[in-house]
Amino acid sequence: MATQPTSHYETDRLISEYIEFHYGDDYFGVANFPKTLAQLAIETMGDKPAGKALDLGCATGRATFELARHFDQVTGIDFSARFIGVGTQLAEQGRLRYTLTEEGELVSYKECSLGALGLGDVAAKVEFFQGDACNLKPVFSGYDLILAANLIDRLYSPALFLKTVHERLNPGGLLMLTSPYTWLPEHTKREEWIGGFKKDGENFTTFDGLKAMLGEHFRLVRGPEAVPFVIRETKRKFQHTLSEVTVWERI
Ligand SMILES: C[S@@+](CC[C@H](N)C(=O)[O-])C[C@H]1O[C@@H](n2cnc3c(N)ncnc32)[C@H](O)[C@@H]1O
Repeated sequence: MATQPTSHYETDRLISEYIEFHYGDDYFGVANFPKTLAQLAIETMGDKPAGKALDLGCATGRATFELARHFDQVTGIDFSARFIGVGTQLAEQGRLRYTLTEEGELVSYKECSLGALGLGDVAAKVEFFQGDACNLKPVFSGYDLILAANLIDRLYSPALFLKTVHERLNPGGLLMLTSPYTWLPEHTKREEWIGGFKKDGENFTTFDGLKAMLGEHFRLVRGPEAVPFVIRETKRKFQHTLSEVTVWERI
């Protein structure tokens, strides 16, 4: 274990977990999740216009940077100012130091850099803002792609987001949703869930809810398909999850 360095390290446990998830090592052979999503999005875009993209619920921002390989300008927005601070620091300084929990109070020291990930040249195309996906300022519109990765089951009102998101997309633009649909009352009150319950005695899945909410303004163009991810909690504990990906084209 390294001795305690003196300069600044991001030590907040949740933030560090996300920095490692987005910019750190792959575990158990599972590819980097935000990078995989950005590649899927770019592949699905084909030769559609690639002006502006929005990464909603971007957390520490890896997908925001990855999308900037293809789009002219990418905005990352998250509710959490602490998460936004990570993306901003990377965009401005290109590198970041953080601690990883090993066990109990023991940590190891790591560094990540945009250059090492082949993202040094795209930083100038990226910007980060604190904001609420359910109540975005009107200035956040005119996008060719909106990515909402593992966001909808963390929103206080996913319906409010899903019913208005078309207003922010250019016609023909894509909405890419991914979620493990792990509805929890502490994030989303039971009456706000859009699926994952019985309706008229039949199973009503979140995908059923998405089709009902998006059908008026969107056409499903890809998925549902599963993309796995692994989040490291400690040296010996990991979360392994499948996120369901769907891509919707704004009619
Ligand atoms: C499960 S994380 C997913 C982060 C990232 N997209 C990824 O795939 O790794 C959900 C993120 O959504 C953010 N979030 C929750 N509610 C939000 C809201 N109303 N508006 C914007 N972001 C929100 C959280 O702060 C968190 O960063």
